[in-house]
Amino acid sequence: MSALIEFRDVCKTYQMGDTTIHAADHVSFQVQKGEFVAIVGQSGSGKSTCMNIIGCLDVPTSGTYLLDGQDVGGMSRNELAAIRNKMLGFIFQQYNLLPKLTLLENVEVPLMYAGMPKGDRRERAKIALEMVGLGDKLKHKPLQLSGGQQQRVSIARALAGDPAVILADEPTGALDSHTGREVLTMLQQLHAAGNTVVLITHDNSIAVQAQRIIRLEDGRVVYDGDAHAPEAVVTPGLAGKGAAQ
Ligand SMILES: Nc1ncnc2c1ncn2[C@@H]1O[C@H](COP(=O)(O)OP(=O)(O)OP(=O)(O)O)[C@@H](O)[C@H]1O
Ligand SMILES: [Mg+2]
Repeated sequence: MSALIEFRDVCKTYQMGDTTIHAADHVSFQVQKGEFVAIVGQSGSGKSTCMNIIGCLDVPTSGTYLLDGQDVGGMSRNELAAIRNKMLGFIFQQYNLLPKLTLLENVEVPLMYAGMPKGDRRERAKIALEMVGLGDKLKHKPLQLSGGQQQRVSIARALAGDPAVILADEPTGALDSHTGREVLTMLQQLHAAGNTVVLITHDNSIAVQAQRIIRLEDGRVVYDGDAHAPEAVVTPGLAGKGAAQ
């Protein structure tokens, strides 16, 4: 069976005048269905670069990205949008909820883009909000909720379309530590229920909540393995040592 996510020698470069920035430098890894993987690294290590590629928001400069066996690199913008809608559920640090819409309508948005009929998407959105414990607030607006509750709405929105991959980019970044833990517990529950979860974070203490860690430094994978192995966690201050440009 092929991997759900496969990076083969993925490179992403940016040209800044005379300098070439290697934001992703020959990155290779696979994520199987049902895994919970954290991609971790310091600021500038290439996390967002990899996240944008995994999420079909960007394509590699060279190398191959296969999502469920399909080569994403050669796809047009429309094809990327279509595969994104079908395969991926996004959770962002800033929730990205639409303030004028109710919670129910917010969760319905990606289902609408996916072409789901109104009745079905209402029902799906309602179930997803019930799953995150907000079934009694369907008609509320996002700003009537706490940060943690808003993040739960965004989890519901990510889940509602039953995506193959849940992609969470610093999902606890805007939350206090207690609420952040609740959100992480929810991601662990989604994993336990069989979902594939990819979590992007700069924070080791969050990354170790996953099953597996992929650590980036200067665009390269420097560790890929068990989140609980001693070498999975680097001492702050030592990370990136010797990486001066
Ligand atoms: N559009 C761009 N143009 C030029 N350089 C870029 C661009 N996007 C990213 N980079 C560079 O690529 C490298 C990796 O950036 P990336 O945003 O992936 O890091 P990150 O790990 O997400 O960092 P952070 O934790 O600060 O979000 C950095 O050196 C960054 O400056
Ligand atoms: Mg980033």
